[in-house]
Amino acid sequence: MKNILVVGGGGREHAIIMKLSESSKVGKIYCAPGNAGISKFAECYDVKATDVEGMVKLAKELKPDMVVVAPDDPLVLGMVDAMQAEGFMTFGPKANAAIIEGSKVFSKDLMKKYDIPTAYYEVFTDSDSAIAYLKEQNSYPTVIKADGLALGKGVIIAQNEEEAITAVKEMIDDLKFGKSSSRVVIEEFLTGPEVSVLAFTDGKTMVPMISSMDHKRALDGDEGLNTGGMGTISPNPCYTEELAKESMEKIFIPTMNAMNAEGRTFEGCLYFGLMMTPKGPKVIEYNCRFGDPETQVVLPMLDGDLYDIFEGIYNHTLDQVDIKWKDGACACVIMASGGYPESYKKGIEMHGFDEKGQVDGCFVYHAGTKLSDDGKFLTNGGRVIGVTCNADTLENALAKAYEGVKKIDFEGAHYRKDIGHRALNR
Ligand code: AMP
Ligand code: GLY
Repeated sequence: MKNILVVGGGGREHAIIMKLSESSKVGKIYCAPGNAGISKFAECYDVKATDVEGMVKLAKELKPDMVVVAPDDPLVLGMVDAMQAEGFMTFGPKANAAIIEGSKVFSKDLMKKYDIPTAYYEVFTDSDSAIAYLKEQNSYPTVIKADGLALGKGVIIAQNEEEAITAVKEMIDDLKFGKSSSRVVIEEFLTGPEVSVLAFTDGKTMVPMISSMDHKRALDGDEGLNTGGMGTISPNPCYTEELAKESMEKIFIPTMNAMNAEGRTFEGCLYFGLMMTPKGPKVIEYNCRFGDPETQVVLPMLDGDLYDIFEGIYNHTLDQVDIKWKDGACACVIMASGGYPESYKKGIEMHGFDEKGQVDGCFVYHAGTKLSDDGKFLTNGGRVIGVTCNADTLENALAKAYEGVKKIDFEGAHYRKDIGHRALNR
């Protein structure tokens, strides 16, 4: 039996752990730092996901057979390289490949060099040239992106010149996102339905997973601020077979080959944030990891052994692993703290769970939760839980997920009531 250490502590990690635990080959699962829900299924250790040295030390104590690094920052910081240097089998890209998410300038230049469809762009390191460019283009909305990681907040869609100039000055001059925004990308605004596609790749084989749709805005009707994601559905009905074929030929395979050509072979889960524009699929962003909350709807649809897939990627034998997808659909509704994505309270007692942090009829993926000393479930973050259901149709999956949501309550709980509506009413 294989023991596994999973790095991270959100809904995505909870979903990875549940899928790994279905494998007949998997024994003990450890998680650091984990959360209240995860602690009911895995042994949790209080080490921060960004603490590379601390995590290597923990791995040396636990001696797992595999280390799965799930979040972006430790991947970009080189946690996989550090674990491999100590002889651990790992899942996740090395730092030289994680840069595909760690630097927007890198990813845009890669797409330009290898002719992978994306929005037209320019890169700036001083605000005067950026502002001159904005004035010369004089086209709105326009999109301004911080080069580095910015907790998903580094993208501004400016509706006019004033907003664009403010964003540029805040990023480059005031370093709003620290070093991450000392360089910015200014890019063309694209339109069309958005589709998330996660893909397994070992650098030789590319296996796209079933598609999904995120709901990034905080409020119903896609209003309000951008968040980490307020809910997901899978599959994404906008993503037809033809679009999938075109994306594979023009985006997925060329990206894998481009990374190989650059000497940065990507091994792990590569996330393609796509927009289905009138001119075909284009890349909005790459992530070097499983998406959150996409993973919470994609992995429940996987008809296969996740441990075999991870091992196949590590050994570069992904082509020999059997990967299938279930029929039907899956939906996840995020319950967030009141005030999220701005300021919110933590430590609020939650009601409605059984002793494993679950409700009847759904699976609850925990994100920002912790246990009190006397074993109660408390809120501990912005996105608190993701209530998730598989069913024969998307409509039924959503209905069951919302039934689950109604059984759970905590002061200030906020969730969108229209997850999947756009997909159902196309
Ligand atoms: P990101 O944090 O890179 O996922 O961007 C956040 C959101 O901004 C995306 O999900 C898109 O909705 C939007 N976005 C990013 N780039 C563009 C673009 N070039 N055109 C239109 N919308 C964009
Ligand atoms: N849901 C988008 C992301 O994981 O970045």
